[in-house]
Amino acid sequence: MKAKLTVNKNSIIDKIDRRIYGSFIEHLGRAVYNGIYEPTHETADDMGFRKDVLYMIKELNVPIVRYPGGNFVSGYNWEDGIGEKSRRPQKLDLAWFTVDTNQVGVDEFQEWARRANTDVMMAVNLGTRGPDEARNLIEYCNSETNTYYANLRRQNGFEKPFGFKLWCLGNEMDGWWQICHKTAEEYGRVATETAKVLKWTDPSIELVACGSSSHDMPTFGEWERTVLDHTYDYVDYVSLHCYYGNNEKDTPNFLARAEDMDRFIKETAAICDEIKAKKNSDKTVNLSFDEWNVWYRTKDEEKAMEKWQYAPHLLEEKFNFEDALLVGCMLNTLQNNCDRVKIGCLAQLVNVIAPIMTENGGKAWKQTIFYPYMYASVYGNGSTLKAQIESNSYKSKEGWDVPYLHTSVIYNEEKDEVVVFAVNRSLTEDMDVAISLGGGFEGYSLNEHIELYTDDINTENTADNEAIKPIKRQVEKGKDVSLKKHSWNMLIYKK
Ligand code: AHR
Repeated sequence: MKAKLTVNKNSIIDKIDRRIYGSFIEHLGRAVYNGIYEPTHETADDMGFRKDVLYMIKELNVPIVRYPGGNFVSGYNWEDGIGEKSRRPQKLDLAWFTVDTNQVGVDEFQEWARRANTDVMMAVNLGTRGPDEARNLIEYCNSETNTYYANLRRQNGFEKPFGFKLWCLGNEMDGWWQICHKTAEEYGRVATETAKVLKWTDPSIELVACGSSSHDMPTFGEWERTVLDHTYDYVDYVSLHCYYGNNEKDTPNFLARAEDMDRFIKETAAICDEIKAKKNSDKTVNLSFDEWNVWYRTKDEEKAMEKWQYAPHLLEEKFNFEDALLVGCMLNTLQNNCDRVKIGCLAQLVNVIAPIMTENGGKAWKQTIFYPYMYASVYGNGSTLKAQIESNSYKSKEGWDVPYLHTSVIYNEEKDEVVVFAVNRSLTEDMDVAISLGGGFEGYSLNEHIELYTDDINTENTADNEAIKPIKRQVEKGKDVSLKKHSWNMLIYKK
């Protein structure tokens, strides 16, 4: 199969906000306990954090990590997780039917984030709680005042404020499964009032209002309209979440889910602009895609599990190679929409639907999806360019045209290099791509070709066998680039 990609230096979509390469750690299963935190592990540091896991997270160069949930946050009392550890209460978590010992709370997590070279995206509980607890929490985290909660933080050993700059106003409040789920009216009101007290306490923060939990929520659209009608003047972003699966064992259609993600983004951005016009506002509300991934094998697992366990193996999705291909396409989609998507969180980071897995007391290892995520985060910096693609296509189940070639093109001005991320979605045919860098890119040629490929798209990595890992392909200058059937590729062009 043949395809063509043409791009010019001045066809800039926007500069990428690095926060699109964020991730997420929830108090869920083994994400925190026996994931990032395992005091008895041989690599544990002075606070009980696994250094082998920290090392892998640094490899991913994660700019921001959302915390502490997810569904968990809608029942969370943040005060349970501060102060003397032996006095912290052990509590039932009604989101995942487990027990939380509260040995890790906001104090420990901000310290962990510092050690992981990342920032915290903090979420407040708008399920069982509301503006009062949220204002206390932000005073505890961000205030320098001589007042009760700021002093409580000092008493707990943290003289300097944590300085969290990005806050989520609850989580998936449109979902019936959420603890204290709300109608759009109810949520719109409480989110507005919470936004006011948070920004009054710290005007330097940015806020994310809950949008839809997935593109196919029956309330999608109306939810955003109503919530933004209330919150528009007070928030900076609206959230989107999506998880895709290959339940039907239909890989072409599975790989076409990136087109659904693209539509979800464009439709949500259009709704933000509709409310902007309605309010005659000068302000633009952008998007925070703060949960996205492949997830289907371990959905609803908590329902069948024995209840009230500590750190059970929950949502430990084992990703195969086709999942890595879709994750690659989803990353391309975030990059291609960087004019509106300013934050993205791969959900999640460790053990729970995650690129990094751990064995209790044992190894940490990389799932197949680790690599497209790592390369995007490390090399996908600069401005996304709008490329023209000529490629054969196929039809998705919705009847959409799905080009076999899925790409994003990024110009990194600092390094003076053009990075092309390319997935060949054909399951049967290799693809020769004529890549033409014009208008300002004269003299640039292919310098590096990294490839992820395996013959069997069902291949998984395990603790003992990292079957899927990138290889460096030999570069043939001046020729079409050959992309293997069902492969993910990164191409770097330099002068
Ligand atoms: O990431 C797992 C769960 O998926 C989160 O807790 C929730 O927000 C979403 O439904």
